[in-house]
Amino acid sequence: VIKPKDFYKYKQGVLHAEGVSVERILKQFGSPVYIYSQSALVKPLQALKRALKPLHATPCFAVKSNSNIAILNLLKSEGAGMDIVSGGELYRCGLVKVPGKDIVFSGVGKTAEEIREGLFYDSNGIFAFNVESIAEISKINDVAKSIGRSAPIALRFNPNVDAKTHPYISTGLKKNKFGISKSNILSHFAWIMELENVELKGISIHIGSQILGLSPLKDAFGSTEKLIIEIEKLAGQKIEFVDLGGGLGIQYKKEKIPDIDAYGKLIKKHFGKGSKIGHALRVIIEPGRVISGNSGILVSKVLFKKQNGTKKFLIIDAGMNDLIRPALYQSYHEIVPVRKAFSNAPFDSYEIVGPVCESSDCFGSTRKFSKKIDSEDSVAILSAGAYGFTMANQYNSRPLPPEVLVSGSNYRLIRERQDYSDLVSGEQI
Ligand code: LLP
Repeated sequence: VIKPKDFYKYKQGVLHAEGVSVERILKQFGSPVYIYSQSALVKPLQALKRALKPLHATPCFAVKSNSNIAILNLLKSEGAGMDIVSGGELYRCGLVKVPGKDIVFSGVGKTAEEIREGLFYDSNGIFAFNVESIAEISKINDVAKSIGRSAPIALRFNPNVDAKTHPYISTGLKKNKFGISKSNILSHFAWIMELENVELKGISIHIGSQILGLSPLKDAFGSTEKLIIEIEKLAGQKIEFVDLGGGLGIQYKKEKIPDIDAYGKLIKKHFGKGSKIGHALRVIIEPGRVISGNSGILVSKVLFKKQNGTKKFLIIDAGMNDLIRPALYQSYHEIVPVRKAFSNAPFDSYEIVGPVCESSDCFGSTRKFSKKIDSEDSVAILSAGAYGFTMANQYNSRPLPPEVLVSGSNYRLIRERQDYSDLVSGEQI
């Protein structure tokens, strides 16, 4: 189990990111600031790679969870491919030269332009489009035809299983907008095989995010294995790969999370040599949060302390625009003081809130900190590496914070803080 505290520890009473003092980073780059630990990013990727051995497997990092190009570059150099959902994410992959053969393109609403970009990427195009509707298959066929190419596709199968996670991030149920049902796949199968400009290469699934038990994945893998067997019979040819999506949960509080080796075993059981499919497939997975989540923290200075009625507030200089997860999903993030002494008794119980004019701009409720904590002290919001910066926005005209990557005792700025001119970039009076 990878925990933030493996990478963020107190040394001489001050929180450190690996070997670097968080206070030093604050002093240099200001507040609020996102900080990432390089070894926290690499460790889970390596663990996934180990767990999938000896399969021909590629973890394709879900770029949406953290799309900073320094991080994409790092993960690419450690052997990750990329799972993308937009032309913008593909552009980022191009900047760090991710090979097309290691890119899969998911998403329910690809535009003709994005499809074209995928086909032209890296001259030979990306590895596959994970298609999410019958209409999309038609469109991909048309676009590919117009440029005289054949597009590799995987059908994103909706296995109708409940991932048992927050409803906003559950995607594998019949009622969700994602994927294609089995009956729909089967009834259009002959038509798909006849299309001249798409080539069916795989089946993909993704049932949800922050999944805490392997059993929904087991159900989904089982149905996928069955579907592949049926399809191969119908087609009279082999399926080249299966893409099992992302979704592995991480520890935000004290959740019990899926074991990576057990996850690997489950995949090998359904798609490895001994599976009922009977031949080797390339296996792709699309991990996002399990790689980036616990690598990042959002550090923020206390601006004011105040009391309304019985409630005590710590008003910090990061807002819901910088990290929207608590406001959007009522998600829990542990919050620790940068100076260890402020985690000591005697305590007060605080609401940790931001400056944004919304009551949902709250990072944590009834959190215990020393009575002595006050303005100019700082706190770190943990497990903010996934869907933190990538979901940040400029609401209330707040420039986006900087990002810093730490490796051992080295650190560097990987995205500078925006300034006011960035707020109006492209606007006209
Ligand atoms: N593949 C597909 C097709 C996806 O839609 C997603 C996430 C992933 C992979 C990666 O899932 P992960 O391994 O990170 O669980 N903003 C939300 C999470 C949204 C997830 C969307 N799709 C949050 O902050 O919790």
